[in-house]
Amino acid sequence: MLSQSAIHRSPPLFSARITPSPTPNPAQWHLATNRRAMVRTVVAKKAGAVKSTAVKPSPPAENKETGKEGIEVRVVLTVKNKIKKRLLDKIEDSWEYFVNGIGKGITVQLVSEEIDPDTKVGKRSLVEPVRGWLPKPSDHPYIVDYAANLTVPSDFGRPGAIIITNLLQNEFFIMEIVVHGFSDGPTFFPANSWIHSRKDNASSRILFTNKAYLPSQTPDGLKDLRQYEMASHRGNGKGERKKHDRIYDYAPYNDLGNPDKSDELARPVLGGLEMPYPRRCRTGRRSAKSDPSSESRIEKPHPVYVPRDETFEEIKENAFSTGRLKALLHNLVPALAAALSRRDSQFECFSDIDRLYKDGLIVKAEEESFVDRLIISSVLKNFMTMGDKLLKYDIPSIISRDRFSWLRDNEFARQTLAGVNPVDIQRLREFPICSKLDPTIYGPQESAITKEILEHELNGMSLEEAMKTNRLFIIDYHDILLPYIKRINSLKGRKIYASRTIFLSTRNGILRPIAIEHSLPPSPSNPSRKRVYTHGHDATTNWIWKLAKAHVCTNDAGVHQLVNHWLRTHACMEPYIIAAQRQLSSMHPIFKLLHPHMRYTMEINALARQSLINGGGIIESCFSPGKYSMELSSAAYKSMWRFDMEALPADLIRRGMAVEDPSMPCGVRLVLEDYPYAADSLLIWSAIEDWVRGYVNHFYHDSSSVSCDKEIQAWWDEIKNKGHADKKNEPWWPNLNTKEDLTQIVTTMIWTASGQHAAINFGQYPFGGYMPNRPTLMKKLIPQEDEPEYEKFLLNPQQTFLSSIPSQLQATQVMAVQDTLSTHSPDEEYIGQLAASHANWISDHHVKNLFEKFSARLEEIEETINKRNKDFHLKNRTGAGVPPYELLLPSSGPGVTGRGIPNSISI
Ligand SMILES: [Fe+2]
Repeated sequence: MLSQSAIHRSPPLFSARITPSPTPNPAQWHLATNRRAMVRTVVAKKAGAVKSTAVKPSPPAENKETGKEGIEVRVVLTVKNKIKKRLLDKIEDSWEYFVNGIGKGITVQLVSEEIDPDTKVGKRSLVEPVRGWLPKPSDHPYIVDYAANLTVPSDFGRPGAIIITNLLQNEFFIMEIVVHGFSDGPTFFPANSWIHSRKDNASSRILFTNKAYLPSQTPDGLKDLRQYEMASHRGNGKGERKKHDRIYDYAPYNDLGNPDKSDELARPVLGGLEMPYPRRCRTGRRSAKSDPSSESRIEKPHPVYVPRDETFEEIKENAFSTGRLKALLHNLVPALAAALSRRDSQFECFSDIDRLYKDGLIVKAEEESFVDRLIISSVLKNFMTMGDKLLKYDIPSIISRDRFSWLRDNEFARQTLAGVNPVDIQRLREFPICSKLDPTIYGPQESAITKEILEHELNGMSLEEAMKTNRLFIIDYHDILLPYIKRINSLKGRKIYASRTIFLSTRNGILRPIAIEHSLPPSPSNPSRKRVYTHGHDATTNWIWKLAKAHVCTNDAGVHQLVNHWLRTHACMEPYIIAAQRQLSSMHPIFKLLHPHMRYTMEINALARQSLINGGGIIESCFSPGKYSMELSSAAYKSMWRFDMEALPADLIRRGMAVEDPSMPCGVRLVLEDYPYAADSLLIWSAIEDWVRGYVNHFYHDSSSVSCDKEIQAWWDEIKNKGHADKKNEPWWPNLNTKEDLTQIVTTMIWTASGQHAAINFGQYPFGGYMPNRPTLMKKLIPQEDEPEYEKFLLNPQQTFLSSIPSQLQATQVMAVQDTLSTHSPDEEYIGQLAASHANWISDHHVKNLFEKFSARLEEIEETINKRNKDFHLKNRTGAGVPPYELLLPSSGPGVTGRGIPNSISI
């Protein structure tokens, strides 16, 4: 890592006194006072919008001290203060305004793109103090401008970087710096970054202009600073990270358990040969006392470390997702437990569930303020008496349109194509169906689903013909779950099977479930415990079939949450982000392209490790796998995760849901035309791919420019060898030698962060908010004729069903979490849209044109999807009571809308 002196080793341009000093010297103040800075408060039209003051280029001015001709420039810093403040903050701010007003708070120094022949680094301007005034009343009084005036010599060249030093006691958040006065117009330095106080870290900060440069194109004057920036992000891998740090490093998932609290909360380390896993951000906390391999816990309300610029809560709207989720996990969930734990019971009848939407629940809040933070969440509706809150749930869309749809087979099947987990269904390509598990441990490999059973449901068609004509499909959770069944079923209140479900594509274009196999591990007396269920035609078999489907939904809910949602989007993105921050400069074009898709993810993941996926957290409490949840996630990573298969077309081909067809836009043709997730996904994938390809082709002229790009090669190496270290020797990692290699890799990442996450995240409440439709756990196995429970079942099958699904407490907790996870905040940043605060992200006009085309294409896609949703031939998205498939509509308003593709994983 370069030392602080590397930044400041350049001698002054005008006189020796420019050498940075802890506080600006009196001569500098004098210079600044003579050229009184013009400061204005920005009145933004909408949150975050920043309007720059237009300034004409200055005529050459004479420097009073050297007598040389120079250019007078003005450096305007736009700073965003905390929106909500305590009194102490206000007093501190008033003091800092005063300190800035006299020029003793912040200093800036311009660095030229041109090299100084004497110092061999970029030419430096004077170090100049900036000055600030109290903001004028406006819609956004927390946005304030500060300015510094300085003179640079006529041969200074174009400014390429600013060195900024914060002499104040506290950090501040800088949105952007604009330098006025150069002949080619204002120069923008996008920031959206916290500037630490020098009392916390003696190093100054560097901000680059919005020009994108490949490493080989770096202007000579910026080369050392480019290296310095990346080295400072890498850190030295030692010590505990502090709140103000901006260091990105790797660690295994060894912070989920809390062995110091109890043996029951000990959890294995994920990340390593035994239990492979992607890496998370290193925090450097001390080891647990009782287990040196585990990191000690940090409990709420203290936050888990993430690099400073990954935290946004104080500067975003109050309803921003992490704040809302924190309020939920830290306040509402305990309040629910307090309200219901004494009388935690099963739902007695379906009306008990309906009452959650109609009458609500009264809970006591520990903090009054937490209601404010759940402001747009649909769950909290009304105040009752002081301290009591009425918790009233919205009716999920799956129920609001058709109260009984969840009972129907065709709806059960439709949700495998257009629900919240549409990524596990496969075409049945081999028969008999066989397990890959060790038969000496798990029993016979062959499924109990026979040709006879299936042909009984095929209306005269042979099995071979049905397979040949692509009519049979399967969701197979056998191999991923069977190794855990014995352990899960020994947990209190958990009983699951490993399921296989076969679907038939009917002549009228919908799927129908025709057979369900539920397996338990073999016992000494019974080497094969597999049972196959089919749709019954009498009352008893009909209820048994309902229970069999509910067990499938429970398998599906667990795999969706732990594998497809958490592992494949949240957890797998984190190493890409860490590697980008460590190995790509912020001026690298690919960093600029990826940056909108990396925001907020590390913070939401840290919060999840603290309160969602941790030992004893919500996921363990409310989903079938319980304390084995994250082990199961690791097993899925080990057995099925491949980077190359995270590309949408490859995933569809792997599952047999599409076949290669070079004549189609993405090179694939869907086997089922009416597969809403896949049909809409391919539109979004294609738009992202074209945008990325155009962008890559603009910056890289040939393949050698990719293979010779040291930063991009180091980034990719680090993703493979550090971020996904347990997979580093896999042969399937794509090469990164050509422009097309880079296009496919980056498209896969952007797709994962945007469309893929949206498709499997924002439907959680719309589909899961009615527990019978998608129970997250089951407490009882299906009653068998020789069991005492069977008699009770015959007398009251509804009671058997309701006593099998989650309790009232579990249901209300998971509904509240799903509601929050499905909510868009008011300032959500959607794909194809450019947030006002990032308007000047790049200076390149060609790139801006490409982005406009990308945005226009997404608008067209929205129209196409809306048309599809009105096409009555597409029965999986239209029909009586059928909700349209909107999860891949790019835009959305705030709240639980069941639509909208945010740029990044932020919830
Ligand atoms: Fe998510």
